Amino acid sequence: MSGGHHDPRRSRVTLASLARLKAEGQPVVMVTAYDHPSALMAEEAGIDLVLVGDSAANVVLGYDSTVQVGVDELLVLTRAVRRGLRSALLVADLPFGSYEATDADAVHTAQRFVKEGGADAVKLERGGPMIARARAIVEAGIPVVGHLGLTPQAATSLGGYKVQGRTAAQAERLLADALGLQEAGCFAIVLEAVPAAVTELISPRLDCLTIGIGAGAGTDGQVLVWHDLLGLGSGRLPGFVRTFADLRPRVLQGLADYAAAVRDRSFPAAEHTYAISAEELDALRTRLA
Ligand code: KIV
Repeated sequence: MSGGHHDPRRSRVTLASLARLKAEGQPVVMVTAYDHPSALMAEEAGIDLVLVGDSAANVVLGYDSTVQVGVDELLVLTRAVRRGLRSALLVADLPFGSYEATDADAVHTAQRFVKEGGADAVKLERGGPMIARARAIVEAGIPVVGHLGLTPQAATSLGGYKVQGRTAAQAERLLADALGLQEAGCFAIVLEAVPAAVTELISPRLDCLTIGIGAGAGTDGQVLVWHDLLGLGSGRLPGFVRTFADLRPRVLQGLADYAAAVRDRSFPAAEHTYAISAEELDALRTRLA
C-alpha cells in the first residue's frame, strides 16, 4: 500500500503485490531504516519497502564510507528493524567484501541476512560480475534487489560520489547491466544518481521494478535515506534529496531545553517522581534515626 495512511489491517507487501503496483502504474515507496523505532514508524506510515542500507555506515555508525561496515554490524540493525515491521518488505544490504569474491560467499552472506536478520530480500551493488552473484542468490531462493549507477561501495573506482551514465556509452552499459540483473532474477533495481533522461530510456525497457534515488521521476518507485529525508543528518546533502521534515533543529532544541531544565532544577518536577506512603516514610525515618 502506498499513500502514507496507516492501515492496521494492510496485508503483507510481497513480490507479487509489488509487481501489481508496477502493472497499475502506482509508485512504490522505499525508505531506509536502521532501528526498531524507525521501523515501527515506517510501518505505521504505510511504506512498502524498508531497506537496512549499508548507508548505516555513514548515518548511524560514523564511518567515512560504506566499505567499512561489516556483516555482523548490519545484522544487529536488520534484526532490530525486523522486530518493528509487520507488512513492509524488509531488504538488507550486503556489505562490501561479503559477497563479491564467489557465488558461495554471496549465497552464504545472503542466507545469514535472511536466517539471522529476518530479511525478506537482499540488495547488492554493481552489474558485470555481480550479475552471477545475484543469480546464485536468487537460485538459493532469496529475492534480490540490484543497485546500479552510483554504487557507493565502488566510489573509489568510480572517481568519487559522481553522477553515472552521463555518456551514451556509460548509459548503454547501465542498461546492459540492468537487463543482466533482471535476467538473473532480480525483482527490483535501484538506480542511483543517473540523469533523469537516461532513467526514462532505461526504466521502460525493464520488467522488474526500478527504484530511483537521484534518478528522476521515471522509475517505478523512490528510495531516500531516513536521516536525509527527515533532516536528521549533520553533513552536506546530495542535491537530489528533499527534506520532508527538518528534525535536527527540533532535536537540538529539545536537548538544550532538557539540559537547561536539569541545570536550573526545574526538572524533575513533582509530577515526574514516585510517591511512598506517609506510614512507610515515617517507618524509614525511625529506622534511620
Ligand atoms: O545504503 C543505502 O542506503 C542505499 C540506498 C541509498 C539505496 O543503498
